[in-house]
Amino acid sequence: MKIENSVVLITGANRGIGLAFARELLARGARKVYAAARNPATVTLAGVQALQLDVTNDWQVAAAAHQAADVSLVINNAGIAQPGGFLEQDSEAVAHRILRPTSLAC
Ligand SMILES: NC(=O)c1ccc[n+]([C@@H]2O[C@H](COP(=O)([O-])OP(=O)(O)OC[C@H]3O[C@@H](n4cnc5c(N)ncnc54)[C@H](OP(=O)(O)O)[C@@H]3O)[C@@H](O)[C@H]2O)c1
Repeated sequence: MKIENSVVLITGANRGIGLAFARELLARGARKVYAAARNPATVTLAGVQALQLDVTNDWQVAAAAHQAADVSLVINNAGIAQPGGFLEQDSEAVAHRILRPTSLAC
């Protein structure tokens, strides 16, 4: 994977591992980093371009793909972790929340 001069989009880039990815990619010479977040106001890292993106919102996915058409590398980091096991009563609902796909092809 070539990072230097790449144009990267990271989902969930406002905090946690996504923010660490954004910092590291800038440090390693990425040309542009789109830091996507549900609330772009929470993106505070200097040098990135904030982008609104809730990955479960079909229209926001389509809009982000349009706005960031120059991207060469996507790090789809956004996600949730929920406690519970496969034998719990709500395991199907929990799995659905964690894995919920969007329905639009971009
Ligand atoms: N940390 C671990 O040990 C570990 C282990 C296995 C897998 N993972 C996975 O690695 C990824 C990052 O982990 P983390 O520890 O950095 O998690 P985290 O601190 O909980 O951060 C999660 C990030 O995902 C964003 N996010 C959640 N749902 C979203 C949605 N629908 N649309 C857009 N953004 C959304 C959050 O945004 P908000 O600020 O808006 O909530 C936040 O930026 C996650 O997918 C997690 O499940 C982590």
